[in-house]
This record gives sequence, structure tokens and C-alpha cells, in this order.
Amino acid sequence: MAYVRFENISVSYGDNQVLKNFSLSLEKNEIMCLVGPSGCGKTTLVRCLLGLTRPDEGEIYVDDKCLFSSKRRINVPAERRGIGIVFQDYAVWPHLTVKDNVAYPMRKQRMKKNEIDRRVKDVLKQVSMSEYINHLPGQLSGGQQQRVAIARALMSSDDLIVLDEPITNLDAKLRDQMLNEIRDIQRNIGTTIFYITHDQKAALHLGDQLAIMNGRGELVQIGSDEDIILRPKSRFIFEFIGVTNFIPLKLVNSEYKLDLGREMIPWPEQVPDTMAHGKPIEMGTRPNDITFDDASPIKAKVKRAVFLGSEYDYFIELGNMEIRLQQSTLDAALVGVAKEGSEVGLRFLNPHYYEAKRREA
Ligand SMILES: Nc1ncnc2c1ncn2[C@@H]1O[C@H](COP(=O)(O)OP(=O)(O)OP(=O)(O)O)[C@@H](O)[C@H]1O
Ligand SMILES: [Mg+2]
Repeated sequence: MAYVRFENISVSYGDNQVLKNFSLSLEKNEIMCLVGPSGCGKTTLVRCLLGLTRPDEGEIYVDDKCLFSSKRRINVPAERRGIGIVFQDYAVWPHLTVKDNVAYPMRKQRMKKNEIDRRVKDVLKQVSMSEYINHLPGQLSGGQQQRVAIARALMSSDDLIVLDEPITNLDAKLRDQMLNEIRDIQRNIGTTIFYITHDQKAALHLGDQLAIMNGRGELVQIGSDEDIILRPKSRFIFEFIGVTNFIPLKLVNSEYKLDLGREMIPWPEQVPDTMAHGKPIEMGTRPNDITFDDASPIKAKVKRAVFLGSEYDYFIELGNMEIRLQQSTLDAALVGVAKEGSEVGLRFLNPHYYEAKRREA
């Protein structure tokens, strides 16, 4: 049985139904990342788990213990749920030392002083912050403050911690470092982590499992990072995760052609039968799934090439469209960098097919 279970959770604020029959399960000791656009209901779900928001309907279980059930009228109070939480907006208290920040949940539980001291020392060691025990948050970097917040969450529970957008205000390098640290802490302690974010990159970096929500508060796909990237279930997911290109395909005399505006070029790949014949469709492709191939009949022009260190980012004119192409620096060394203004042939790997979006008139 899954460790955390949300079953058919519905939440409304007045007329605004945010979650409707929402179900999601987390296995023990995994990192589950819940990703979705701003306002889709992620924090609402977290608040339901913590006991801060009461769902209209549904059930919530942690480790087979029912924390909430509308039918059975169970609603375990927040302070007895024992779940560690890191919220972005009040990560640490600025007027308390590292030690007092971390000890706070235990003081609230009226634990003995010796026991508190021992556990604070232990947990600070786990997050590599022992030497800062008497510092105030203002004397720490952003990343170190987040580590203190995680240490405090671990004090409430080392079985389940929830992080709701905990690192959005860190710069990219520190953010990567924090994600690695969260992963290390998870490996060392074996905690189940529920990580909430609208940053797909962070989710891919961290999650064993990713759950993707759409703007209507519905779960649209759940799977590993490879499932989500290589086998996105819908156009929404394909577009939500990273940069995408869409190229229209037209059926002409029962053969598909790339519609490049001025000209049509036969599309060499098999379009799945599941696509409704006659309906306009588009081929979706990611920048790193396009390669240069002089032998390809699909010709295009390089408008701009930008070197980003680990890759080249190209802006390519293909018919009446501009598409993006990424070439790793290793590939560039092997096959050469395409020059701005030059004509190139293109090959598309791993194409995805979707019904064309209706264009705004
Ligand atoms: N206390 C509240 N009263 C009324 N409406 C609320 C309340 N809290 C949240 N909402 C609304 O519920 C919806 C979901 O909010 P929620 O905070 O769960 O989104 P989120 O997915 O966490 O977004 P973000 O990524 O921006 O943090 C939003 O439309 C929000 O305006
Ligand atoms: Mg939120």
C-alpha cells in the first residue's frame, strides 16, 4: 500500500472549485515532485495534507493512518499530524539562532532540554550545518538558510517532509546545489519527500516520480522523468516541460507533408493511425531532438547560433517558421558548428504528433 494517499479530494473556495476528485499516491522513501502552473491548486493540496485546509470531500492517509475522511468525519488536527514542512515564504525566523529555529517544533512538543540538544546536533550534522549552530539567519547564505529550514522540517518528522517551492528565490547555481543536497539528505535518512514546484527543471532534477497537474487542478500524468520527457501523454505536458517546436503536417493524396508555408516537403516518418485522418495535425519536436544532416531533403537556414558552454542554441528559419535546435558541444566538436547564414539539412528524431491547436484569428 502506498505510504501517502490522497483519495478523491475536492476543495472549493466559494464558487471556485480548485481540486475535484483529486487522487495521488506516494511510495515510501521516494521523492515525488508535484508540478503544475501557478494557481492550479498545489499549495491547497499541501494544506489539506497538513490539516490547514479542510477538503469538502475525500480521504487522506499517511502510513495507513487516516488523517482526514469526509465520510467518516475524521480530521486529525494539524499539530498531531507530525509532518515536516518547508514553505517558501516563511522558511526560517530571522530573530532566532540556527539552534532555536531547529529546536522550535520540539519545544512546542515540550520535549526535555537534553533530548532537544541531542537531536538538534544530530539533525544539523545531517544537513552539514553543525558549525553554524549559534548563527542568526542573517549571517547565513540563502542556501544555508534553506538547509536550516529543512533541518527544522526533519525535526517534525523524518518520515515525511513536504517542501512547497522552497528554493525559488535562490540563484541557479545555489538552486542546483540545494536540489543535490535535498537528494543527499533523502538518501541518508530515507525520508519520503513531497516536493511542490512550478519549475519543471527542478522537478526533473530531483524527482523519482513526477506528477503533472494542469491549470484546472487535474492530474494529467504521473511517471518517471523519462516517461514525462520521452512519452508525454498530451500536448499540454509536452509543451509544459521545456522548449518545443511545432511544425504543421498536411495530408496530400494520402501522404503526409511538412507544411512550410511556401513549400510542402514529404514527411518520411510514419504518422500513427491514432491521428484522425483529415484533421490538421502538428509534429512536435524538442530542440535537442533535431540534428543537422546534409543528406536530408528538409532544408533550412541558420539565423543565429548562440554558444552556451555545454551546448549551442540555434535559431533556424524553416520555411515561414522559426524553430529552435540544440546541439551539444560534443556533437559540435564531432560534426562542426553550423555557421550563421548557412543552409543546413535537418533530421527529426523522436517526433510527437498532436492535433493542431486552433490559431487565434
Ligand atoms: N484562502 C483562499 N481563499 C480563496 N481562494 C484561495 C485561497 N487559497 C488559494 N486560493 C485560490 O485557489 C487557487 C489555487 O491556489 P494554490 O495556492 O493552491 O495554487 P498553487 O498551485 O500553489 O500556485 P503557485 O504555484 O502560484 O504557488 C488559486 O486560484 C487561488 O487564488
Ligand atoms: Mg503554491
